[in-house]
Amino acid sequence: MKEVKIETILQVFDNINELPKDIQDLMRRASEARSNAYSPYSKFSVGAAILLDNQEVVTGSNQENASYPSGLCAERTAIYYAGAQYPNAKMLKMAIIAGSQSHPTLTPIPPCGACRQAISEYEVKQDAPIELYFMGETGKVVRSNSLANLLPLIFDKSVL
Ligand code: THU
Repeated sequence: MKEVKIETILQVFDNINELPKDIQDLMRRASEARSNAYSPYSKFSVGAAILLDNQEVVTGSNQENASYPSGLCAERTAIYYAGAQYPNAKMLKMAIIAGSQSHPTLTPIPPCGACRQAISEYEVKQDAPIELYFMGETGKVVRSNSLANLLPLIFDKSVL
C-alpha cells in the first residue's frame, strides 16, 4: 500500500481591488449577469463571466425550475453557451460571484462539483487551462490557475 498526498495551490486576494484591472472587469460582468439569476426557490444568485481568446465575454446566471433538478448553475449556463456559440474559441478566464438573497455572503463561493466537471471538459477539449476567480458578494477572491486544481483525479475522455 502506498499513500498518495494530493496538494493544490490557490491564490487568495483580500478584495476585488487587489485584482488586475481586466479581472475586475470580468468580475463586474459576472456580477451584472448575477442580477439576471432566476432563483426563486433557493434565493441564492450566481453569476459567471468567461473571457474567450476572441475577446468575447460570455455570461450566465443560475436558472431554476419548479422541478428542482431541471435548473442549471450559472457556470454551466455560461460555459455551455460559450461552447455552443463559439465552438472554436479557447476559454481563457472565468469569474464567478455568488450570494444569498436572504443573508450576506462574505466568503468566496467555489463552483459545485458538477460545474467543476463541466469546466474540466473544456480544459481537456482545448488542451489549455482556464483561469478561475470566485468570490461571495464582497470580500476575498480566490484564484486558481486551472480548474484541475479544484478537481483532482478527473474523469475525462482518455478512459472511454
Ligand atoms: N449554483 C450555481 O449557480 N453554481 C454553483 O456552483 C453552485 C450552485 C446555483 C444552483 C441553484 O440555483 C442555487 O445556486 C442553489 O444551489
